[in-house]
Amino acid sequence: MTTFSRRAFLGTVALGLAGCSSDNPLVLPTDPLVSRTESTRGGTGRTRAVTLTATRSQVDLGGPVVDTWTYDGALPGKELRVSAGDLVEARLVNRLPTDTSIHWHGLALRNDMDGAPPVTQAATEPEEEFTYRFVAPTPGTYWFHPHTGTQLDRGLYAPFIVEDPVEPGRYDAEWVVVLDDWLDGTGTNPDEALAGLRRRGGHSMRGMSGLGGDVAHAHHLINGRIAASPVTFAAKPGRRVRIRFINAAADTAYRVALGGHRMTVTHTDGFPVAPMDTGALVIGMGERYDVLVTLADGAFPLVALAEGKNATARAVVRTASGSVSDARPAELDGRVVTYDQLEATEPLDVRKPDVVHRMALTGGMMSYEWGINGRAGDMTPARVRSGQRVRLEFANTTMMWHPMHLHGHTFQLDGPRKDTVIVLPGQTVACEFDADNPGQWMVHCHNAYHAEAGMMAVLGYEESR
Ligand code: C2O
Ligand code: CU
Repeated sequence: MTTFSRRAFLGTVALGLAGCSSDNPLVLPTDPLVSRTESTRGGTGRTRAVTLTATRSQVDLGGPVVDTWTYDGALPGKELRVSAGDLVEARLVNRLPTDTSIHWHGLALRNDMDGAPPVTQAATEPEEEFTYRFVAPTPGTYWFHPHTGTQLDRGLYAPFIVEDPVEPGRYDAEWVVVLDDWLDGTGTNPDEALAGLRRRGGHSMRGMSGLGGDVAHAHHLINGRIAASPVTFAAKPGRRVRIRFINAAADTAYRVALGGHRMTVTHTDGFPVAPMDTGALVIGMGERYDVLVTLADGAFPLVALAEGKNATARAVVRTASGSVSDARPAELDGRVVTYDQLEATEPLDVRKPDVVHRMALTGGMMSYEWGINGRAGDMTPARVRSGQRVRLEFANTTMMWHPMHLHGHTFQLDGPRKDTVIVLPGQTVACEFDADNPGQWMVHCHNAYHAEAGMMAVLGYEESR
């Protein structure tokens, strides 16, 4: 069981403090420093207002009709698109039978709007509402989802695109491709799936990359559709298209390829990299990749292979009439791009870290208890101070892989910049960033079941004195 209560706002953080009264006070989300930090960043002066109603709905996956929870009945939820510097005013109305929240995945926004109960706010109760108000800081491909229980594995997710006001725009069209594993309303739901894992332990499935999952999802979706009735993306041959891939799954890494095409990777988790050519990409939960593709003449399968699960999600890319081949694109069996082949074009400067936090990823499938440094859902923060260069080391001591995600910051890997990073069994990955966004920030595995079973921690700013 996770050791924190979702209703108690900051209660546990304060408790974590009580034990060691000699420590400096924490910079809580309510600290005036949080809004002051945002106001120093400037903005466009434009406001983008939207209402997001989290509600029970029935959704057609392209054949199977399922009862689930969505934002406003849409799957994925309607894309939210703003320019960097815009003030976002997103009103969450909770029509679910339980508490909820919205987290803006990947954004270095102000801490009190991060949507991570109980650390940054109290969860929004049924029939209540909460308005998120923040300046969208940096351009890129992001998304949003609840940060409450296993709700990420329902239909509550949508793309959040922050456009670059000075985008070089060397493409003719842009497509957003959202990947998801689906089980809700297929005779089970995410809460039952988690209860089952806790009762019986998991049996992990593995693919050729060593990646796999714990739950056998009934369907795999691209933009809300099963492979048998795919969405079609249409354009003229020869056009250059920017594809923004978002993995919104709870428990599945996808290997993606566009049959008959090479892709040029341009961004990792919103941040630019030197263009890198590849046939296929592996995308862990929470990760995003932007690629450029020059379209050939014909109809082509855009395939996302569920790693270790012997299942696929599919879409169609069409520039001419004719049928699309059912065969598995050869690109899927070629080389996939790896982090160390990618190079951020705006890298963090090289500096000696002021503070190093080692986070051992712990736990196992049998007990289905996961943790960080042996503790499940421990809200005692790993401390940093504004201005420090921080090094986080994720050391995976488990037999499973974990896509580790840090809120409120984009870190530098050896190569690209990211906010979510795959850590393989036995591997240690170092992430460096500047502590420039004061507050209390979650660090966790983006496997929704691992996170809920305890693989969650807090990185907390303390006052410098
Ligand atoms: Cu995408 Cu803590 O989340
Ligand atoms: Cu995990």
